[in-house]
Amino acid sequence: MVYQSTEELDAQLKDLPPLPRPNRVVLTTPTHFDVEYVINPHMSENVGTVHKEVAWQQWKAVRAAYAALDAEPVVVNGQSGLPDMVFCANQTLPFFDPASNTKGVVLSRMHSEHREDEVPYYGRFFEDRGYAVETLPEDLDADFEGMGDALWHPGRRLLWGGYGYRTSPEAYEALSELLDVPVVLLRLTDPDYYHLDTCLCPLDAEHALVAPEAFDDTGRALIESLFDTPIEVPDHEARHQLACNGHCPDGKHVLIQEGCEETDERLRANDFVPVELDTSEFLKAGGSVFCMKQMVW
Ligand code: ARG
Repeated sequence: MVYQSTEELDAQLKDLPPLPRPNRVVLTTPTHFDVEYVINPHMSENVGTVHKEVAWQQWKAVRAAYAALDAEPVVVNGQSGLPDMVFCANQTLPFFDPASNTKGVVLSRMHSEHREDEVPYYGRFFEDRGYAVETLPEDLDADFEGMGDALWHPGRRLLWGGYGYRTSPEAYEALSELLDVPVVLLRLTDPDYYHLDTCLCPLDAEHALVAPEAFDDTGRALIESLFDTPIEVPDHEARHQLACNGHCPDGKHVLIQEGCEETDERLRANDFVPVELDTSEFLKAGGSVFCMKQMVW
């Protein structure tokens, strides 16, 4: 069940099994965060420019924002030699199957060798906490970057799967089988939007922030057919401030990079409440709020 165009969609959202919102947030300390190599265009001018103290203050504000929304964060310690480990959305895809009451994570296969060693660390972390830890088939030659590219449709067992830069499309065939879920594929066509979470931000079952420049016509049509109200984000806010890398943990508040004024305006017009956070140090590495956390059941 991997869908690549609107013509292929044979199921409606309301026919898919419901999925409760994940209620626990995992954060990773920026203890060793830095820009040490360039694996996406956002990093290219920023090697060695991270202000460590500022990054810590910004990270603490992200943690406080989650705590204020009643999601008491679980904190993982960042490891030395893994400067991108703070982006803890990427090493796993958490899942929950209400039918069998199974909670687990699928481990990523990072595209860049710089980030490979982050994965076993999170594997052990989740295993120690009683989660089922799944892997893609050994003989499958495919990259997969967890919730950088694979996003749950809020409220339903349906996955959105971005591919083109970090994740291979073949990974989604395997994931669909492993998790027994339909996957809607979206081809990413602009390197500034190298992960799906930089250009699509599902807010609730009906609403999503979308950077249209990141997709082809087929992808835009798929998004429009499954979200009743896609909210278009202006290119300058999505591309340079990663406005689509915000996160809506509760269907109401949207934690988002500060200064995305037009996006904030459009969120308010749709009854969402933007909660602005400054993640400027993390933008230097190509990430903002969404990829600085992992939501688990
Ligand atoms: N420097 C990291 C990378 O390029 C940033 C990852 C940000 N994560 C995200 N989900 N967009 O891999």
